[in-house]
Amino acid sequence: MKIISKITLGLATATLLFVGCADNATPAGSESVKATISEESLGLRKTTLNNESVNPHGTSYGKDAAGSSTKIKRAFQDAPPMVPHDTEGMLPITINNNQCIACHDPAVAKDMGATPYPTSHMTNFRPQSSHAIKGENTSSEKLANISIQKENKLVGARFNCSQCHAPQDTGALAVPNTFEADYTSANGASASSWDESKFMEGIDTTK
Ligand code: HEC
Ligand code: HEC
Repeated sequence: MKIISKITLGLATATLLFVGCADNATPAGSESVKATISEESLGLRKTTLNNESVNPHGTSYGKDAAGSSTKIKRAFQDAPPMVPHDTEGMLPITINNNQCIACHDPAVAKDMGATPYPTSHMTNFRPQSSHAIKGENTSSEKLANISIQKENKLVGARFNCSQCHAPQDTGALAVPNTFEADYTSANGASASSWDESKFMEGIDTTK
C-alpha cells in the first residue's frame, strides 16, 4: 500500500512539472505573453538593440583656447574642476611632455591666468615607511615610521592630470542632468576648500 501511494505521488509530481514546463514554453505572440517593455525604450539611442547601424552624436569638446575659456562650475564641493579650454596638442600626457604643468604650476599659474594646482597635489598621500624606503620587508613596520608628507613639488600620483580633470562635451546631452550641487563653501562652485588650511593643516605627519 505504502509503495503504491509513493508511486502515485511521484507520478502526480511529474505531471505537474511537465505541465509547468509546457506552460513556460508558450511561444511568443500567443495570448499569454504580453510585451510590456519595447526594445526601442531600453537604451539611450532609442532604437531596437538589435540594430547596430546607429549614429550617436559625436563628441564636441570646447574649442576656446586656454586663457579665453569660461570655467565650468564644479560638480560638487571639492570635485576636480573640469577642463574648460581646448586641449588640442596637449593630450595624451607623457612622462616627457606634460603641458598642463607649464601653465598650472603654482610658480607660473598666476601670470598665465590659470588656477594653480593645489596643495593636495603636492602632498604624498601614499604613506612612506622607513622600511620601504630602504627596500626592506614592511610587515613589521611601526605606525610611528609611516608618514604622509607635504612636498614642494607635484607628487607622482597627480602627474596624469587628465585622469581626473577631463575636457567636457559641449554638445547636446543624451540624458539631461538635473543634479544640483549643494556646496558647503560659499565659493564651492569655483574653488576647492582642500587648498585652505581646513583639511591640509597638520596632515604632514613628519613634522
Ligand atoms: C597655455 C596655458 C595652459 C595649458 C597648457 C593648460 N591650461 Fe588649463 N587653464 C589655463 C587657463 C588660463 C585657465 C583658466 C580658464 C581660461 O582662462 O581659459 C585654465 C583652466 C583649467 C581648469 C579649470 C580650473 C578651474 O578653476 O575651474 C582645469 C581643470 C585645467 N585648466 C586643466 C588643464 C589640464 C588638465 C591641462 C593639460 C591637459 C591644461 N589645463 C593645460 C591655462 C592652461
Ligand atoms: C587623482 C586625481 C587627480 C589628479 C591626477 C589631478 N588632480 Fe587636480 N584636483 C583633483 C581634485 C579631487 C581636486 C579638488 C580637491 C583638491 O583641491 O584637492 C583638484 C583640484 C585641482 C585644481 C583646482 C584648485 C583650486 O584651488 O580650486 C586645479 C587647478 C587642478 N586640480 C589641476 C591639476 C593639474 C594641472 C593636474 C596634473 C598636473 C592635476 N590637477 C592632477 C584631482 C586630481
